[in-house]
Amino acid sequence: MLVTPLEKIIKRFQDTKRLDDLRLLVKRFECSRDLDVQAFLRDRAIDYDLCYRAKTYFLFKDDSTEVVAYFSLAMSGVTFSENVPDKIKRKLMYGMTNKKYAPAYLIAQIGKDDAYADEKIGEYLLTAAMEAIQNARNYIGGRFVYVECKPTLRAYYEKLGFTYLQTAQNNLLQMFQVL
Ligand SMILES: CC(C)(COP(=O)(O)OP(=O)(O)OC[C@H]1O[C@@H](n2cnc3c(N)ncnc32)[C@H](O)[C@@H]1OP(=O)(O)O)[C@@H](O)C(=O)NCCC(=O)NCCS
Repeated sequence: MLVTPLEKIIKRFQDTKRLDDLRLLVKRFECSRDLDVQAFLRDRAIDYDLCYRAKTYFLFKDDSTEVVAYFSLAMSGVTFSENVPDKIKRKLMYGMTNKKYAPAYLIAQIGKDDAYADEKIGEYLLTAAMEAIQNARNYIGGRFVYVECKPTLRAYYEKLGFTYLQTAQNNLLQMFQVL
């Protein structure tokens, strides 16, 4: 499996003035288990990448140009609800507990194409995402990363080293990992 930044692919298509072809190509991505993951790649990932709002990475099979899976990373932050214990706030805010907001990296999207539903590649994908975040963190700092997921995925992320932080207003769970 090969992880390739979307930025690199965009450049290749721009050089040959075929960015519209790339826009058509990403429309083939199907993720019926999470239609937001599907819609983001199809409709927004390229433009978000071009304006640095979020950076996307593709996972390709070594011998194919078909997108197997992808993840998108962004700078973000969390506003703590009153239920977040001081112990966790201290961990995420360099010992401070009096602040309500902390900056963080966000794994904004992560998902694989339906064609690979039976292949266990999520852990590989997440490891690649964490590597990219660690690189950013080594340059500009940052204390933690989080993901927002459906309650059904809580155990999945816990198994991969994430801890429950709080439930956001959209009813998604915010799960964090200290870097
Ligand atoms: C998340 C994902 C990349 C993990 O891939 P993976 O590690 O290869 O593992 P699986 O696809 O087998 O998923 C792991 C478990 O989570 C469950 N799961 C995955 N996505 C789910 C979803 N959107 N809703 C409910 N359950 C989901 C799977 O059914 C599986 O459960 P099981 O262990 O009881 O069989 C992949 O499942 C995926 O692309 N899901 C759809 C998109 C998504 O939900 N992304 C997460 C957004 S936070």
